[in-house]
Amino acid sequence: MAGISKPCIKLNNATKEFQSGNDVVKALDNVSLEIYPGELIVVLGESGSGKSTLLNIIGCMDELTNGKIEAFGKDITNLSEKERTNYRREDVGFVFQDYHLMPELSAIENVEFIAELVKNPLSSKEMIKAVGLEAEEKRFPGQLSGGQQQRVAIARALVKNPKIILADEPTAALDFRSAKEVLSVLVDVIRKEEKKGGDKDNNKTALVIVTHNREISKIADRVVIMKNGCIEEIVKRDDYCSVDSLEW
Ligand SMILES: Nc1ncnc2c1ncn2[C@@H]1O[C@H](COP(=O)(O)OP(=O)(O)OP(=O)(O)O)[C@@H](O)[C@H]1O
Ligand SMILES: [Mg+2]
Repeated sequence: MAGISKPCIKLNNATKEFQSGNDVVKALDNVSLEIYPGELIVVLGESGSGKSTLLNIIGCMDELTNGKIEAFGKDITNLSEKERTNYRREDVGFVFQDYHLMPELSAIENVEFIAELVKNPLSSKEMIKAVGLEAEEKRFPGQLSGGQQQRVAIARALVKNPKIILADEPTAALDFRSAKEVLSVLVDVIRKEEKKGGDKDNNKTALVIVTHNREISKIADRVVIMKNGCIEEIVKRDDYCSVDSLEW
């Protein structure tokens, strides 16, 4: 459980500045945050509050201006380009708002392609099954609905057996029903591992979901509320809700 195991991600006074003309924008302003294995974090905040920047820093897609970040027991603040690529490939599953699938590959091939890049992949077939797309596995992205495409993207993130999954507005482009299907698939991963329990807490996958949708924050173990590049508040939810019970 969170709090007992060691944090898998540790941000220490993390600051990220962007040059914007003559101005400097502090997209992250002295942020400290610990994320635990098996934890479901929802990051909420207005547009421009720094949510995507936070995710990009955790995913090593961008570098800090100041401060420190540790991931899975290693300082990743100043990695070489090669080490960053390796970290992103092996440890992190990404899910984006606009799916980022390869249009010329079928659903299953999109997953297999990623499986071939990593050291210890799970079964592509099993992952397609886990996201409920067995019947559609031979279809190309253009032949799938938005919700189905996003489920392929989730299967692709899961097949890496990542230590952390980072999802930036994964349901923003979807209608209510598809959004809930997509969320269920994502959240099941975390909650199933949670039920397994045992002493392997440190191997559990953490999930960070960025959203504008306050209702979605009800499924989290902790909600991180961002404002102007800072963490305004962290709300701990001992009574997280099921995806089924969400309404918007
Ligand atoms: N590459 C960049 N160059 C310059 N400024 C940037 C860059 N990326 C982000 N910013 C600025 O940093 C701040 C935080 O941006 P970020 O994308 O993290 O916000 P966000 O909370 O994800 O917003 P949204 O909900 O609209 O996606 C914003 O003021 C944004 O304009
Ligand atoms: Mg964003």
